[in-house]
Amino acid sequence: MTRATARPARSHFFCSACGNEESRWFGRCAACGAWNTAAEAPAAAGAAAKARGPTARARWAPRGEAARPPGPRPLGEVEVAGAQRLPTGLAELDRVLGGGMMTGSIVLVGGDPGIGKSTLMLQLAGSLAGTGRRVLYVSGEESEEQVRLRAARLGPVPDGLLVLTETDLELVLEAAAGVSPDAVIIDSIQTLSRGDLEGGPGSVTQVRECALALLHFAKGSKAAVFLVGHVTKEGAVAGPRVLEHMVDAVLYLEGERYQHYRVLRAAKNRFGSTNELGVYEMLEGGLREVMNPSEAFLSHGAGERAEPGAAVVASLEGSRPLLVEVQALVATSFYGTPQRVTSGYDGRRLAVLLAVLERRVGLKLGRHDVFVTVTGGLSLDEPGTDLGVALAIASSFLSRPVLAGTLALGEVSLSGELKRVARVEARVREAVHLGFRRAGVPALQADDARPPAGGFEIVPLATLRDAIEKLLGPRVATRRPALAPERGPDAAEAGSTAATPGRREDGR
Ligand code: TYD
Ligand code: MG
Repeated sequence: MTRATARPARSHFFCSACGNEESRWFGRCAACGAWNTAAEAPAAAGAAAKARGPTARARWAPRGEAARPPGPRPLGEVEVAGAQRLPTGLAELDRVLGGGMMTGSIVLVGGDPGIGKSTLMLQLAGSLAGTGRRVLYVSGEESEEQVRLRAARLGPVPDGLLVLTETDLELVLEAAAGVSPDAVIIDSIQTLSRGDLEGGPGSVTQVRECALALLHFAKGSKAAVFLVGHVTKEGAVAGPRVLEHMVDAVLYLEGERYQHYRVLRAAKNRFGSTNELGVYEMLEGGLREVMNPSEAFLSHGAGERAEPGAAVVASLEGSRPLLVEVQALVATSFYGTPQRVTSGYDGRRLAVLLAVLERRVGLKLGRHDVFVTVTGGLSLDEPGTDLGVALAIASSFLSRPVLAGTLALGEVSLSGELKRVARVEARVREAVHLGFRRAGVPALQADDARPPAGGFEIVPLATLRDAIEKLLGPRVATRRPALAPERGPDAAEAGSTAATPGRREDGR
């Protein structure tokens, strides 16, 4: 395109989808692959930012600090008394933040539309204000009445909770400076804009500049700032990716929209671990913390007889093991390339497990479709859950259910051997607590797994093949739901063949 050559070498471009910056115009973004998203940064953006720098700082920096001459100073002299951790009163949120919110921090809360971000933030605001703190809730998406109605559903509305419906950044900052809040919630960052910048609300420049000004406000005023951000189809917060780099913590609220569990996890956290996970239930009265999430994610009780294709894994989420059910369905494929469909599990990891099942165990899965689902809308990305997923697939393929009340732990190596998992004893303890009777663990860890209660069996396993032999029960007839007779008199007979085992080809 002639456009590229027509530009002076110094102007720069960014992708309006992901914020990736390039020195030249581009047709397709090298970072996110989107087409025709190149936008030129305002010509004097660099110079303007420089000119604005000190003013912005003087404006949002605390009074005392503005007087200090700029430049390096001994690290030891930096006062740390200012930053404090405050419990928000929402235990699961505190856990994900690393033990409460930090004063002067800026946190991005992302999630799909309708997942419950505004609800969570309003509950946070209510909880903080209920303990005598002052909270400014800025809504650019809903009217005061709508916010008030929602707040009323969530519980009492404390006096310290202030609402502002505004989308102009300058006015928001002015209001915030006027009420000196302990926390400011911006719902959402994509609705804010600065009048003096090009681009509408939600554009890369606007989102970035607004977030930057709020960052200065947070650091200067010691208020905790929460930014709500919508997520694009690809799963990143819409607007520039730089937003994720700018903030202190990035939290994602996830879940299946039509199921009621929500999982809050940190993708980044400067003040704590990113492994912690908070579990909520969306109810009439807002999000309620789930005290025992393992129970929530198990569709069968520990003692119930399971169907072939189901296995229970213990995923370590931060300090907490979570018991989750994995379901697999293996069916003869009608396509040249069999389908592999997963929900909540990495497709490439599945490909590895299938290859190991085929080569090391001898299950001929090559012509079968394989579907894997993690219940409760959770996603598993922890290697200790490999064995359970592989076992669920083998169980479906062989029509042999996993023994009732069994937990499977182990990372599957390419050789088919089972590797150690982290904190095996904590995972086993969770299974004991929930009434499970047995845990298959890598043989190397059988001693560490130490059954804490009598009657709980630890099954040491050397390989995946070993696990299949020891943890799967006898073959059962594949139960097919009875269908209404459609093919005349044979229908009754068809019903009875469903109960006859051995009709399906299997991999021995
Ligand atoms: P919301 O917080 O508006 O989502 P977001 O800000 O992420 O777009 O949540 C909207 C959904 O939550 C909506 O479908 C209604 C549901 N909801 C409840 O089930 N119970 C409640 O108490 C509230 C306030 C919302
Ligand atoms: Mg909302």
